[in-house]
Amino acid sequence: MEANDDPIKPVQTLDPVEHPLDLLIRDHDLVRKLADKYCHTQDKEVQKQAAKQMLQALHTHSRVEESVFYPGVRQIDPAMIGHFEQEHLKTDDLVATLQGMSLDEPHADRLMRELIQSTLHHIEQEEKEFFPKLEAANMDMAPIGLEMQSFEANLIHMQSQAGIDMHR
Ligand SMILES: [Fe+2]
Ligand SMILES: [Fe+2]
Repeated sequence: MEANDDPIKPVQTLDPVEHPLDLLIRDHDLVRKLADKYCHTQDKEVQKQAAKQMLQALHTHSRVEESVFYPGVRQIDPAMIGHFEQEHLKTDDLVATLQGMSLDEPHADRLMRELIQSTLHHIEQEEKEFFPKLEAANMDMAPIGLEMQSFEANLIHMQSQAGIDMHR
């Protein structure tokens, strides 16, 4: 919520290692933008491209949260992190299903819209209900930020080695 209070805040001056939440919010913003594009374009090709980028962005984002962020901050609110992990299980399934099918199938559109709806709810809950708690806890985020950054860099490197289409 704080991040939106001042739209001209010079985010680029913040160090992502010291402020790992900014990395997560950057991913959330990308997902929101792609979801909006998917839902509002009339152009089938643009829609398919937005879907592919969103699946890729979600895949990477979820790995970072599941492997580094959630374990690192679990102590702040174990029940809420457990709830987020449960939601990820469902989302990960849906992402894998969609990545394994042709987006031209009519069924794919229904699944994409289901994914978008649950994802927008999930990221909203992370930002509105969990991030403020984490900020209030005044925890030293640098070790988690550093680990998140190197985990994500490794993941993106491996994905590009495997020839997976990357969002940029
Ligand atoms: Fe998440
Ligand atoms: Fe997230």
